[in-house]
Amino acid sequence: MKTTVLMGMVIILSGALALFPQNTDAPAAFDGQTNGLVDQATHAADQDTFEEVEEISDGLGPLYNAQSCRECHQSPASGGISQIAELRVGHWGANGQFENPSIPINDGKAVITGRTLVNLRAICPNAAFPDIELQERVPNSENIRTDRLSLSLLGDGFVEAVPDQALLDLARGQCRSTLGRICGQVLYVPILEAPGKTGVGRFGWKDQHASLLSFSADAYLNEMGITNKLIPDEVTLLCNTVSEPNNTPDSDGLEDTDHFARFVRATKAPPRDTALAKTAESQEGSKLFDKIGCDTCHVRTLLTAPAGTAVNGGAFTVPDALGSKQFHPFGDFLLHDVGTGDGIAVAMAEHYGKAATTRTWMKFSYQDLQTAANKVRTAPLWGVRTHSRLMHDGASLTLTNAIRRHQGEARRVTEKFRRLKPEQREALLTFLKSL
Ligand code: HEC
Ligand code: HEC
Repeated sequence: MKTTVLMGMVIILSGALALFPQNTDAPAAFDGQTNGLVDQATHAADQDTFEEVEEISDGLGPLYNAQSCRECHQSPASGGISQIAELRVGHWGANGQFENPSIPINDGKAVITGRTLVNLRAICPNAAFPDIELQERVPNSENIRTDRLSLSLLGDGFVEAVPDQALLDLARGQCRSTLGRICGQVLYVPILEAPGKTGVGRFGWKDQHASLLSFSADAYLNEMGITNKLIPDEVTLLCNTVSEPNNTPDSDGLEDTDHFARFVRATKAPPRDTALAKTAESQEGSKLFDKIGCDTCHVRTLLTAPAGTAVNGGAFTVPDALGSKQFHPFGDFLLHDVGTGDGIAVAMAEHYGKAATTRTWMKFSYQDLQTAANKVRTAPLWGVRTHSRLMHDGASLTLTNAIRRHQGEARRVTEKFRRLKPEQREALLTFLKSL
């Protein structure tokens, strides 16, 4: 009798386990290998597209920052970081709100509006258009100015597969547990491939995108000047010789932007320095990291939605390789005011295309973009040991300086860091160097 009951329980238990398959850790390595989303040959081909150097005849420019995604996302593996920073500007309007800049080009004969990015390169004047002065330069009126460092894309497929609700819960939970001192802001942002739908932003220093495909379309236009199906309008028609969109589908029906998104989705997460992580000092530092509250924002572990879950407004279904995976980003992907904010709000037309400004987007709020003007997404610390410059502006050259710059919501945590004994601070830094 007893055995039957026991056996019954075993069956029920294993049944429950089958219903809730165990979450496994996301693969992590800087080895350029696929995480299993596609086979290695497909991943290598997608990487080639990501690394391709575009020329004027391919649609590069008229205004641009670099010729290839890899130029800014390369270290220590393709898709990683770089030292390249971008320039963003704007000004305060009379109503106390952030306003996008007006940047005159071509000796004032044209004005670029609707974006905060200032492109640092241009294809003109050239032989075909010797008299067009295209280069953007910042006028005195645009007195809010910042650099923004490039970001690592490695492991971002796991980030994309985190359900919106998990980030909403995280924001609510941290606000409750700190009695309102630390409350991450969630931003609903347009999913370009699901017109009218939004998702919880998680990519970019300002959480300006929720989808890697949307980000790729934004980057292709704004970094390289290449129009595509999701963002079909050029920034300027001056000096433009290549027909639109510059980005047309291959024989497989995929555009470059689809290859970029798939490349990023198939990357492995940044790995730990396992030798250093095992040392007693690093483990002591790891405990202190949690004890003084760094982990409130630099969240250790997130979980992706199960395979088969629809995300990105229904436009993407979480595949097996990305489903039910635990990963360790040391970030909450939420916006915080830690006193470093650059004052710049997300520009609608720039990131989501001109057509987006006339469409209605579910849960989208212009006011939320303004509220976030002085906030920055928590920098995920996975792979931070590979970064030579820190913080959105790249202005911190040491970990200690980056930590000391945290004020605002992080003020009490920074104060606790300051009060650690010197050997404890050293242990915490050793832990950070193992990430
Ligand atoms: C000139 C440098 C540059 C080039 C070229 C560039 N990027 Fe970026 N990328 C950046 C910067 C800077 C950021 C951070 C931007 C911000 O949030 O303001 C970024 C952020 C990203 C992010 C968000 C990552 C995250 O985890 O938040 C993605 C995705 C991305 N880029 C994809 C691409 C793709 C795809 C291409 C090629 C079409 C590309 N980038 C080309 C500089 C560049
Ligand atoms: C209130 C949330 C919050 C807390 C608490 C917090 N951080 Fe941060 N952290 C951020 C944000 C936001 C940024 C990005 C700021 C910027 O770029 O201007 C950041 C950036 C960093 C960076 C720079 C990483 C890079 O790649 O540029 C490091 C290092 C860092 N934090 C470590 C810590 C440590 C250590 C603690 C605890 C002593 C801590 N943080 C506490 C939100 C927080």
